[in-house]
Amino acid sequence: MADKPVYDFGSGCTNPETFPTEALAEAALRAIPRVGEDFTRYPGDLGHLGLRQVMAARESQREGVQVSPEHIVLTNGSMQGVTLVAEALMTGVGEDIVVCEELTYSGTIGAYRRLGLRMEGVALDDEGMCPDDLERVLTSLHKAGTPPRFLYILSTYQNPTGSVMPKARRLAIIDIARRFAVPIVEDNCYADVHFDGDKEPSLYALDPEGTDHIYLCSLSKILGPGVREGYLYARPPMLQRLLERRFDGGNSLLTAAVLAEFFRDRLWDHCAEMNAALKMKRDAVLVGLQESVGDICTWSRPAGGLFIWVHLPADVDLDLLLRLTAERGVRCARGRSFHIHGDDVPNIRLAFGQPTVAQIRAGIPVLGECVRAARVAVGSRHKAAAAG
Ligand SMILES: Cc1ncc(COP(=O)(O)O)c(C=O)c1O
Repeated sequence: MADKPVYDFGSGCTNPETFPTEALAEAALRAIPRVGEDFTRYPGDLGHLGLRQVMAARESQREGVQVSPEHIVLTNGSMQGVTLVAEALMTGVGEDIVVCEELTYSGTIGAYRRLGLRMEGVALDDEGMCPDDLERVLTSLHKAGTPPRFLYILSTYQNPTGSVMPKARRLAIIDIARRFAVPIVEDNCYADVHFDGDKEPSLYALDPEGTDHIYLCSLSKILGPGVREGYLYARPPMLQRLLERRFDGGNSLLTAAVLAEFFRDRLWDHCAEMNAALKMKRDAVLVGLQESVGDICTWSRPAGGLFIWVHLPADVDLDLLLRLTAERGVRCARGRSFHIHGDDVPNIRLAFGQPTVAQIRAGIPVLGECVRAARVAVGSRHKAAAAG
């Protein structure tokens, strides 16, 4: 196995080429003296007001609704929000159940499993979670006397499939959640990583009266996960319920102050620059797939986010494929890591943020050779080529 992958399609990280190192350093020089002796105190549950204001404006401008900075809670990446909501909404009485897409973010699956939540899956298609199946799952849980604590939904640039839920389906999901009186946790960490077409509204923006929505967002995907900055948005009384579970004194004032300074006047310019570069990478993957496996695979064409979800032919031996790709220096994520029960789905997820366009152009054909070589029916004919 190669020590370091040459073609890294594995992780959902951002584009190193557009990381604004110098501008961030300049922002730090301006921000740190402004905070000054406040660094000697704890930031508190909500966190740095300046960054909350910038993120509230980000939400308001994208969604066209009022978002108060007083309802934004800065977190250590959106992942802290993912676990905080579970800890706040679990009761420990009987079984705690969360309902989510049957394919969802692997980090959430791991965290919820370890917290002791039972995950109930809902079918999804290329428009995200299917309302009919959600209704079926909720009906059966209610009949069994085990209503779920919350729904966890990736409605925009779904991880791993890349789907975007159309507005009509969002409204249907909100209606079902309201009828079953179950809170919606919407994880929108890819918000603003957007390439084509109109943006769909967030669930919370479609339900301004609904106080049960919890919305999670992040700076990991528009800047980098290394900054560990995210936020949740929730209105009272749900907000208090979440804050009651927070015991860490708040998140880094240093990071938040620098990011507030950096993003205050340049959020959308930064996103536009980043998205233009990412779109070229996405397109390079799409072209590479068409040329190398267009006759045997299908894949998503995401309007945003960082992933392409590839559907492999049924006769691909997934163990063999992952062995061959590792040998050839290609990293990608196996489909089963995103299945809530670990079922071995015939898919791989390709992340396109980290490799350069040149690496994508070189790497996707190598991946294609590995896919052909891993087909049990025809693999032996291609093994020699793949080993080359
Ligand atoms: C759907 C989803 N939620 C949360 C996260 C965690 O992101 P963060 O770095 O903001 O904690 C990820 C990261 O890939 C993700 O895909």
